[in-house]
Amino acid sequence: MRATAIAQPNIALIKYWGKRDLERNLPAVGSISITLRDLYTKVAVDLVPQSRSDTLLVNGAEAPSMLARISACLDRVLGEQRPRAAVSSTCNFPIAAGLASSASAFAATTVAAAAAARRAYTTAELARLAGAASGSAARSLIGGFAELANLGDTIEVRPLRDLESWPLEVVVAITESGPKSTSSTTAMEISRQSSPFYDSWVNQQAHDLGIARTAIAQRDFAQLANIAEHNCLKMHSVMWASRPPTVYWNATTMRCLQTIRRLQGEGCNVFFTIDAGPQVKAVCLPGEADRVRQALAETSGVEAIMTSGLGPAARVVVQLDG
Ligand code: DP6
Repeated sequence: MRATAIAQPNIALIKYWGKRDLERNLPAVGSISITLRDLYTKVAVDLVPQSRSDTLLVNGAEAPSMLARISACLDRVLGEQRPRAAVSSTCNFPIAAGLASSASAFAATTVAAAAAARRAYTTAELARLAGAASGSAARSLIGGFAELANLGDTIEVRPLRDLESWPLEVVVAITESGPKSTSSTTAMEISRQSSPFYDSWVNQQAHDLGIARTAIAQRDFAQLANIAEHNCLKMHSVMWASRPPTVYWNATTMRCLQTIRRLQGEGCNVFFTIDAGPQVKAVCLPGEADRVRQALAETSGVEAIMTSGLGPAARVVVQLDG
């Protein structure tokens, strides 16, 4: 039995950083994200009962370093007595470079595995399974604007607004295309254990989530811009102050922020956010993307630009028997 699913990456405007339960991969804080349209990961899961081990191809090449995490994800979705699987993933953007490739990869793997085995999970259950593999993956189960809430000893994802009713655009400036130096999983633990700012980060998150929720409900771009930039810089401050420090930025990252500040000074409705990598994501109102794209493309050191609107939830695209 086989199935293929597509999931889009999502970008957090209010960030997930830190875990309250490492083993179950439960986040220390809630988060709010937008799911993208034009970046995707497509995962095919082929259940092969006669096989003795899982296999993984990523963009056509064997990817042994990622296999253990994919196998653990399949165990959670299908149970440890499951048949082995041949998993094949294709992705149209750089992997492990701070572009949320793990979010779309684990969301698509979860959805494809459940469909291949004809398991009728609800979206809430799929989100919990995907989130156990990678926290941000749970949000890719929702299209448009999504919130991930901490709920007792589990998580819950909920839609905040659909993608048509506030069609924001995102321009991604790639400032370095290699994989990142420290995984977000590792860096989060270093932050939790050693950053003097970690506790205040966790304690202030409910406040930031509340402001962002209201801004999204009211389509108040200025308010969303203000809280998203603050939350992003606060997350990076937590990591910069950890021991050892985690600094994902490069000189071009900083130059992109200056470009965005200049555009804001000229009245352009745009704000930045940066995740666990050196890429800069510029979020803007519809109609501003060309101007933002051009300004970032002209910023010294920018290697490539990608533009995307908001996109849909992870979904099954092929389901086959035999
Ligand atoms: C900075 O979801 O990659 O992008 O749960 O350990 O797999 P794990 O972490 P991951 O972390 C994402 C961190 C972030 C912020 C965010 O997406 O909310």
